[in-house]
Amino acid sequence: MQKFILAFDQGTTSSRAIIFDQKGAPVSVAQKEFTQHYPQPGWVEHDPNEIWSTQVGVAAEAILKAGLQAKDIQAIGITNQRETTVLWDRQTGEVVYNAIVWQDRRTSEFCDQLKEQGLEESIRERTGLVIDAYFSATKIRWVLEHVPGAREKAEAGRLMFGTIDTWLIWKMTGGKEHVTDVTNASRTLLYNIHTLAWDEELLRIFDIPSSILPEVKSSSEVVGHTATSLFATPIPIAGIAGDQQAALFGQMCTKPGMVKNTYGTGCFMLMNIGDSPIISKHRLVTTIAWKINDQVHYALEGSIFIAGAVVQWLRDGLGIISSSAEVEQLARKVAGSDGVYLVPAFVGMGAPHWEQHTRGTMVGMTRGTTSAHIARAALESIAYQTYEVLKAMEADAGITIKELRADGGATANDLLMQFQANILGAHVVKPKVTEVTAIGAAYLAGLATGYWNSIDDIQQQWNIDKSFEPDSSLAVDALLKGWHQAVKAAKAWV
Ligand code: G3P
Repeated sequence: MQKFILAFDQGTTSSRAIIFDQKGAPVSVAQKEFTQHYPQPGWVEHDPNEIWSTQVGVAAEAILKAGLQAKDIQAIGITNQRETTVLWDRQTGEVVYNAIVWQDRRTSEFCDQLKEQGLEESIRERTGLVIDAYFSATKIRWVLEHVPGAREKAEAGRLMFGTIDTWLIWKMTGGKEHVTDVTNASRTLLYNIHTLAWDEELLRIFDIPSSILPEVKSSSEVVGHTATSLFATPIPIAGIAGDQQAALFGQMCTKPGMVKNTYGTGCFMLMNIGDSPIISKHRLVTTIAWKINDQVHYALEGSIFIAGAVVQWLRDGLGIISSSAEVEQLARKVAGSDGVYLVPAFVGMGAPHWEQHTRGTMVGMTRGTTSAHIARAALESIAYQTYEVLKAMEADAGITIKELRADGGATANDLLMQFQANILGAHVVKPKVTEVTAIGAAYLAGLATGYWNSIDDIQQQWNIDKSFEPDSSLAVDALLKGWHQAVKAAKAWV
């Protein structure tokens, strides 16, 4: 009887479930958005129980839509928004505070203090990361310091920490398994990417008791089964990866030098760098791409905090478009941005700048500037930020990147994709199956349970849908010069 793989894709704004068949084709999809909480400027929280209920709800819906039952599911693969931090009571299962989301900046000042203490180099050496509020460690510490009773509970061994994968697996297994995988662990600022273990020295620096930490598994192995209270037949949970690593795998960037960029709320560009970590000299982070059959692959990553979100801002903040899809039409009304640059540093800047306190800036307006120029400048800002990250990657890896595999919502925008190819001077390609994040998790789960035999087996399922070739007649250098000046202006405003 034919079986299927169920992928959970728990993202920043929605919970999704997708069922795949053996050819890697999506059979059914269900999705539900959930509430974003902004209790103070710069703070972003999610309700972990809402994450759980929406995720389990869409899983049931996807199974139903496909006309299947739990017994038809060979395995579950989980992929998730990374870094987002949940702490809960080991005995009661109650969360002690909302999930603090990766975008949350409340610990920026504490991060500044750590930098002032000169800890940057040693932390980078151990974790591959930079000191930034983005990662989990300072968020955990914040909960322990600010939630009444949390520190005492942690010291007494009664608290559990998890990224979203850990939380979901703990719930799915009826509280049996407290686990994560190497990719999610590598985003916490607590995991040593060389020794592949939680790092005692980092736990001391952040003042976090080791008893709260989950056990770290590989990305492709059976880590537990769903509780029978959830699905009548227990389903193996066999794949875990942070969403950007899952997308790297789903894009089949399995060889060193291959690069993908996901154009979502933010942009996340990852390059496979093979089995030994390169510590970046150009302000990228080094992260674990996956661990399959005891083989670890590493990646260089550039995280851009605002990409598709700048289009949402045009819609919700400025009101110059009524849906995100309209941005292309508006931007096409003009041939270029006519010297207008928008630096969307709404939450500071990620790679390669890592400026926590910079804010958004627009420069170059004249009396003739219209909403079309602003729309164009907004789209172009996504491409320029991507350019900066790609150049840093090339410099770190010592190679020229010829092809960028693109995915995510904004890849539907041909104007952006073409401009991206022009600015990079590289081919930008989109795959046929656009659900690369979910399929990455499905592949990991399928490989662990014999659904697919090997990476070579699934390699051929990746096919190009559309390719954008660079237009060499464009005066790219002048455009880039303007962008660099705009970034300088944004930084100067701080
Ligand atoms: O590091 C954050 C990233 O994992 C979030 O991804 O797709 O949920 O915006 P996404």
